[in-house]
Amino acid sequence: MAKLKSSFFCKNCGAQSAKWMGRCPSCGEWNTFEEEILVRADPPKGKSSGMGIPSSPKLIEDISLTELPRLKSGFRELDGVLGGGIVRGSIILLGGEPGIGKSTLLLQMAMALSDTKVLYVSGEESESQLKMRAERLEINTNTEHCYILTETNTQEIFQHIDQLRPDVIIIDSIQTLQSNLLDSASGSISQIKECAAEFQHLAKTTAIPVFLIGHITKDGTLAGPKILEHIVDTVLQFEGDQHYGYRIVRCTKNRFGSTSELGIFEMTGNGLREVLNSSEILLSQRDEDFSGNAIAAILEGNRPLMIETQALVSSAVYGMPQRSATGYDIRRMNMLLAVLEKRCRFKLGAKDVFINIAGGIHVEDPAINLSIVAAILSSVTDIPIDAKTCFAGEMGLNGEIRAVTRIEQRITEADKLGFTRIFLSKYNMKGLKQNQFGIELIPIGKIDEIFALLFEPRESKS
Ligand code: TYD
Ligand code: MG
Repeated sequence: MAKLKSSFFCKNCGAQSAKWMGRCPSCGEWNTFEEEILVRADPPKGKSSGMGIPSSPKLIEDISLTELPRLKSGFRELDGVLGGGIVRGSIILLGGEPGIGKSTLLLQMAMALSDTKVLYVSGEESESQLKMRAERLEINTNTEHCYILTETNTQEIFQHIDQLRPDVIIIDSIQTLQSNLLDSASGSISQIKECAAEFQHLAKTTAIPVFLIGHITKDGTLAGPKILEHIVDTVLQFEGDQHYGYRIVRCTKNRFGSTSELGIFEMTGNGLREVLNSSEILLSQRDEDFSGNAIAAILEGNRPLMIETQALVSSAVYGMPQRSATGYDIRRMNMLLAVLEKRCRFKLGAKDVFINIAGGIHVEDPAINLSIVAAILSSVTDIPIDAKTCFAGEMGLNGEIRAVTRIEQRITEADKLGFTRIFLSKYNMKGLKQNQFGIELIPIGKIDEIFALLFEPRESKS
């Protein structure tokens, strides 16, 4: 006999409660509890993977380590983010805003994975829509290993998996799945949890890697992927600005690798293209030198990137000066401006200041500070900075330039890309030898020094 049962779930963090509560005790959000009807049909016969091997406790010594090689996804960028390829039996969540390219990435991967049977389960698009998408993608290998299934019921999906025995499973998306064991609507917290748990069980018992796609909205109201983070092995986040072609895959949790990896893709007319030489695309295309541009040597994850920072400083025309920053924290910008005002005696209080980071990327690395400061100074004085100069340093409140992490990696990248000088903190010079690199190292201690070093030799030349 089915027993009617309902429970309340927090929309924000997924906490469960038997009764309604105004405030979630686990995440502190107000008015997030919603009732979901859970009807347990006949008692579930174990978990429903259908392929389960009976489990029993084992001595750790007796467990044989049959480590299968990781599967290669066909994308070097994606393999890098996953820590060297897809681990068998792992469950990977790919989260991102709608329209960012999650389905494209995984369908492309599915089609490019040669000699591997892939099952792409879609609850979002019809077979013909998927075919249309596949036609757009430029895939050179044959795709006879790639199966499409449009189904949302997990029990049905498991039956097909039983018959087909794929090597990789892709679920697009977890929010569309529905398990027979629960009566709540697909996309509800209880369904998402249950379906993910069923797939996790499948992955662990059959060693088939499972990719789950999950949507997150800008304000994070649909909490699906958040609740999944502790169920899955790896969480990949797909980011990027809709208006720019560049997409970043970032790893925020990985049981089988480091989380500091990053993959860069470009969305083109025929699918995603890997960007292997990332620095080149982030340096804007310009022939002549303009004032207000400076190049920063930053690290995104483990990856050194040369990125262009732009500043525009102009007299405020309409009363209140405007301050705006794209790709950079505006509070940090205000802090830099205050330091420049106080330590370098630049009158910036009555100026409009705009900061822009090329490529639509948001940068957290504080080593970008020095480049932003240089761009501001260049715009104020209207003197361009030589295009072969770059910066890596953090500025403190007293105008002191602080050391940044892994400076050698940054210098090597700048050197490789043909820069001739790099400004860095004098505290970073410990252990570095000038003649170790082809690029000239210019150490600075305080922000006032940068002015003379940057602009005066040029002026005397002209
Ligand atoms: P999609 O993978 O459907 O996004 P998601 O699954 O994350 O919701 O990608 C949608 C966007 O990608 C859409 O706006 C069109 C664009 N796109 C291209 O620019 N080129 C292509 O080859 C494809 C397939 C999509
Ligand atoms: Mg999609």
